[in-house]
Amino acid sequence: MSEAPVVGILMGSDSDWPIMGEAAAALKELGIPFEAMVTSAHRTPARTHDYVSQVEQRGIKVLIVGAGAAAHLAGVVASGTVLPVIGVPLAATDLNGLDALLSTVQMPGGIPVASMAIGKAGARNAALFAAQILAVEDHALRQRLHQERQKMAQSVVAKDAALQAKIYLP
Ligand code: RP5
Repeated sequence: MSEAPVVGILMGSDSDWPIMGEAAAALKELGIPFEAMVTSAHRTPARTHDYVSQVEQRGIKVLIVGAGAAAHLAGVVASGTVLPVIGVPLAATDLNGLDALLSTVQMPGGIPVASMAIGKAGARNAALFAAQILAVEDHALRQRLHQERQKMAQSVVAKDAALQAKIYLP
């Protein structure tokens, strides 16, 4: 994207991208410029710290952070900035994301992380939540979010109509 990014998407591994790509896709749909980066709380702590230490002055306004397993990345990022941090717990181990959910949601008082649901829905919602935060000061974006809600509602009605047609087929 040519415009300066206002959302940063971080993830602990490239193996997170198939899910975190949902957040990127939703931001693209809404025309929100973003950047994405693989960095790890455990494997590259200095790199993560360097990114976080400069992120406010670079003009990023919201951070979306996906991680699986002992998912400390969102909390570590939140500890270094007062930008809103939205965590996405990912299923990367035999615990199917419950480990990451608990790591993301159980932050100690003083360092908040907004936790979304595990997986694809959480990644998409992270992007929509970031958009809603930005829309507080951006009227045009708020209108686009209202339009997206309307489209979603219309698609549910259309799905119901298709189902009704199927159910009553002889
Ligand atoms: C976490 O460990 C990452 O966020 C990823 O979800 C998980 C597994 O990483 P890989 O072993 O696939 O690199 O830090």
